[in-house]
Amino acid sequence: MLDKLNEIEKAALESLSAVNDEAALEAWRVANIGRSSAVMNVFSQMGGLSKEERPLVGQRANQVKLAIENAFAERAELVKSAALARSLEQDQLDITLPGRPVRRGGLHPATMTLRRILDILAEMGFQVYTSRDVETDEMNFQALNFPPHHPAREMQDSFYIETEGREENPLLLRTHTSPGQVRAMREFSAANPENPPSIRIALPGMCYRYEQITARSEVQFYQVEGLAVGENITYGDLKGMLADFARRMFGPQAKIRFRASYFPFTEPSAEVDVECFVCGGKGCAVCKNSGWLEILGCGMVHPTVLQNGGYDPRRYTGFAFGMGPQRQTMLLHRMNDIRYFWGNDVRFLEQF
Ligand code: PHE
Repeated sequence: MLDKLNEIEKAALESLSAVNDEAALEAWRVANIGRSSAVMNVFSQMGGLSKEERPLVGQRANQVKLAIENAFAERAELVKSAALARSLEQDQLDITLPGRPVRRGGLHPATMTLRRILDILAEMGFQVYTSRDVETDEMNFQALNFPPHHPAREMQDSFYIETEGREENPLLLRTHTSPGQVRAMREFSAANPENPPSIRIALPGMCYRYEQITARSEVQFYQVEGLAVGENITYGDLKGMLADFARRMFGPQAKIRFRASYFPFTEPSAEVDVECFVCGGKGCAVCKNSGWLEILGCGMVHPTVLQNGGYDPRRYTGFAFGMGPQRQTMLLHRMNDIRYFWGNDVRFLEQF
């Protein structure tokens, strides 16, 4: 038995010196100190030994087991540090290499102009009020004083989305942000019908028109509506406010002019031009030699519209205006085709 133990120890230690990686190490451990290894077998055979032999063999078996275990631990340490050295050598990380560029997204040019307009209006006291994209015929047209046969109400010009069973008041995508005027007035006057509060709001949003898409017209576009209602608001306030807006938007030299126009929901109505900032008013291709660029429609809120919003037109007056951020973007950046906005061409978008 003692001889056998010596042999077991020698064989184990000899075979260990050939073990060079983790897998071989584990296989060696199972074979030499595992439950059915040779040393362990000696322990299980001890019952058959004589009283004299038993303590001697037991002591020696313990020594051998310990020697094998210690040798294993030593070897394991060696294999591990060799593996680490190898991986450090092979998987070298060059921290001086330049990183991969991260492509950054940016705001869409239409969004940038929209935000700039809203920032300027906020400075002037106009709070943002959002209204719905899906409107009723009543709000989009009737409440805004459109006569029954106004061309904008034709099926060909608006996206109607539900007409069945509501012939009198079909659903459609709003063709302008103006219905938000009446929605806002109704909300504010409902809270205090006897004494509706004064209003100063900006209504941004997408508008939709069923039109041929061309360089100058898209089926969907942004508008920003402005509405001010109060007890002593005059046409002079409208002119002063828009002149101030133009200076903040287009620069301190910006001049504007009012041209008489017509909208069913304002009276009087006007279209506003800003002096061409490309040629300074002398006349060029951008302003088509007129020296002026049209930027918005506006007017004094029609008494019928005030009434429809719950504001007594004998006591209240107000002004409203509607402008297109995309049109202003086109003017500011000399864009000649509105289709670039929703074309999603990165070469275009990256220029902003
Ligand atoms: N809603 C008008 C349009 O879409 C613009 C407008 C708004 C005009 C407010 C007057 C007052 O053309």
